[in-house]
Amino acid sequence: MGFMVDVILGLQWGDEGKGKIVDYFARNYDIIARFQGGPNAGHTLYVQDKKIVLHQIPSGIFHERIINLIGNGVVLDPVILRKECDTVSKFGVEVHKNLFISERTHLILPTHRALDKAAELSKGDGKIGSTLKGISPAYMDKTGRNGLRVGDLLHKSFITNYIRLRLKHEKLLNNYNFSEDISAWEEEFFESIEFLKTLNIVSGEYYINEALEKGKKVLAEGAQGSMLDIDFGTFPYVTSSNTISAGVCNGLGVAPQKIREVIGISKAYCTRVGSGPFPTELDDETGEDLRKTGNEFGATTGRPRRCGWIDLVALQFACMINGVTSIVMTKADVLDAFDQLSVCTAYNIDDEENKRVPFQMTRNKIVPQYKNFKGWKKDSIAFKHKDELPVEMNEYINFINNYLGVAIQYISNGPGRDQIINIS
Ligand code: GDP
Ligand code: IMO
Ligand code: MG
Repeated sequence: MGFMVDVILGLQWGDEGKGKIVDYFARNYDIIARFQGGPNAGHTLYVQDKKIVLHQIPSGIFHERIINLIGNGVVLDPVILRKECDTVSKFGVEVHKNLFISERTHLILPTHRALDKAAELSKGDGKIGSTLKGISPAYMDKTGRNGLRVGDLLHKSFITNYIRLRLKHEKLLNNYNFSEDISAWEEEFFESIEFLKTLNIVSGEYYINEALEKGKKVLAEGAQGSMLDIDFGTFPYVTSSNTISAGVCNGLGVAPQKIREVIGISKAYCTRVGSGPFPTELDDETGEDLRKTGNEFGATTGRPRRCGWIDLVALQFACMINGVTSIVMTKADVLDAFDQLSVCTAYNIDDEENKRVPFQMTRNKIVPQYKNFKGWKKDSIAFKHKDELPVEMNEYINFINNYLGVAIQYISNGPGRDQIINIS
């Protein structure tokens, strides 16, 4: 039996366009599953020409036939989930039919959100730039073996365990001198868990493995990006989960040999939101042009995204740790008007050329080395076929393919559902 789990994940610092690409490829699968992260994610897609931002619900939810699973590796905020369910229901999605949640998924409590805020405030200038959704405290309670899980909601001991954990959190909050009243958050939380209990709560690992046995096809949807991975990202300026392909195994309960394709998403340039190293960041007019043209403002927090040129040193590292089998390059259209494009091919650190991502990207000054390309200066948004791609665009793509040793198979040339070209 040819088991089949494919993965779509981000190769940069998040917001590569995963939502759009998962929605596009979803039609080839039976189950779309999120394996990590939580409401820190904001995945944008267009349905009936309306923009939708999903945070925890997988991006296959608008396909009637497909089951969308929130895996055990996710940290789930029930309040945000209920709002998302309301949004998608307005488009006719039947969440009680198409949305499944693993009973092992950890819950984000109101005090996790408070702790996230308190911890960030206490860091001052050294803040991570967290989305303040409670991600790090919730994962800390998971690895610290204190957390509460979706399956616990169904047991009568839930309230006692909730109060016990809240007390622990209150002690921590007192240490931070955090005194915001969170009683309104708590009220919303308890209303929302009643709704959550009405959804399909399943043993995610059995569900997915039994589906695979029956020949069903699974697409695992990553959140954040490889450079935000807790182990391999720009630590400590990272998120708290394994965003890379290895995260699929422990975030869903599938064995490594069941993973087939790993499709990596990269923008044609690069962005980052929040603090931390970003070697190719452009603090100038060109950076401003990228932000404006690319509409680079956070889908979850609205914060302006930092912008810069594509970084092949970081991308090659991401391809290596993920085992990327093909690449989708998004937002190529954003580069349409630029006279010149640059591609980072190496980092100079202490006057030495380096093609590896260093252990500590903040300690040493990294001077990116660039190769320049002529811009294509054509409206690419209407392109439908690879034969229409300008010579300059092909040169840009071919150089990246050769550097990475992995082929870009699709180019996304607009936010719309069908603005994508197979160039393989
Ligand atoms: P995700 O977190 O990886 O799903 O990405 P986000 O949704 O946070 O950010 C990607 C943004 O770029 C969204 O506003 C998308 O609608 C938009 N987008 C995706 N692909 C393209 C593209 O090829 N061209 C343009 N111009 N916008 C795109
Ligand atoms: P999607 O899935 C971009 C960033 C935050 C911050 C760091 C830690 O839409 O690509 P956290 O709230 O996780 O503790 O924040 O990670 N971050 C993201 N950046 N896209 C995301 O998700 C992100 N999720 C978290 O800005 O720098
Ligand atoms: Mg996003």
